[in-house]
Amino acid sequence: MTKNEGIQLVDLDEDGVDRAFRNDVLEGLSQPQKALPARWLYDDAGSQLFEDITQVPEYYPTRCETQILEQRGPEFAEAIGPGRAVVEFGSGSSVKTPLLLSAIEPGAYVPLDIAGDFLRAAAADLSAKFPGLPVYPVEADFTKRVTLPDEVADMPKLGFFPGSTIGNMVPRTSVDLLRSMRETLGTDAMLLIGMDLIKDTAILEAAYDDKKGVTAEFNLNLLRRINRELDGTIPVENFHHEARWNDTFARIEMHAVADADMTFSVAAREFAMASGETIHTENSHKFDTRSSNTLLLAGHWTPMGRWTDDKGRFSVILAKATIARAAP
Ligand code: AVJ
Repeated sequence: MTKNEGIQLVDLDEDGVDRAFRNDVLEGLSQPQKALPARWLYDDAGSQLFEDITQVPEYYPTRCETQILEQRGPEFAEAIGPGRAVVEFGSGSSVKTPLLLSAIEPGAYVPLDIAGDFLRAAAADLSAKFPGLPVYPVEADFTKRVTLPDEVADMPKLGFFPGSTIGNMVPRTSVDLLRSMRETLGTDAMLLIGMDLIKDTAILEAAYDDKKGVTAEFNLNLLRRINRELDGTIPVENFHHEARWNDTFARIEMHAVADADMTFSVAAREFAMASGETIHTENSHKFDTRSSNTLLLAGHWTPMGRWTDDKGRFSVILAKATIARAAP
């Protein structure tokens, strides 16, 4: 496995507490609008709950994107061509990657992930499904520029970033990520990226507040995780889950809403919340054709093609590395 510099999986203190988690939580709970980085939602329980979310009837993105990848294979093959090294950002255990790899004729598959165990499992799985395909897993934080294995140095790259994961970032962070992907992949690269679409608010809010309450569990699991890992006393039963559409930012926001005035402690620090006050736990930005184009262009990618599912709910966009020019 290629090693990238400065890669730090977890930094535990003398009590076995993840320092980055504690810092983010203490800082986030000290803001006027309490907010926690969404990445902390994905501990083992949270990752399993997200898998369960993809199965609830209201959560359409996974099914829609899978449908696009299933149905548009020949068009992807035509637009992408053979022989590219497919570099997947956040190696999936999903069904999406095999759909892409069997549609085009890739030269190699390079899954990138910060979680080494998960990465090796995903790589082994893919090797078994595609016996002739060279697979080079890279353990790396893909928000920074990544050094790819020498074996793929001479192949043009295709970045693959499905799931509308880009939507979890605010615009400046997503532009930074797109630019570092461009740096990682080179000047002759292409990028295939899933981006969820703006639609009826009721459909969006239902997708993030399903009837079975799986998304609510996913959200409140973060508070349970804080109690467990950071010696917290958050009264989780006095919170409820809320998904709200923020039209200015064009995003669904997940909040944990306090149902009573309360005080609690986390890592020996005291916090107070009034009834109705919230902890903001995730953003999921949604796009239309122009806003997705603008974001990609700001990230140094030029859109080439765009596919949607039959209900027009989700988009998969193919872009190529933008050639820098001095003049208009
Ligand atoms: C996998 C991060 C793209 O934002 O739709 C699903 C996460 N959160 N339901 C999304 C999520 C609540 C999901 N992403």
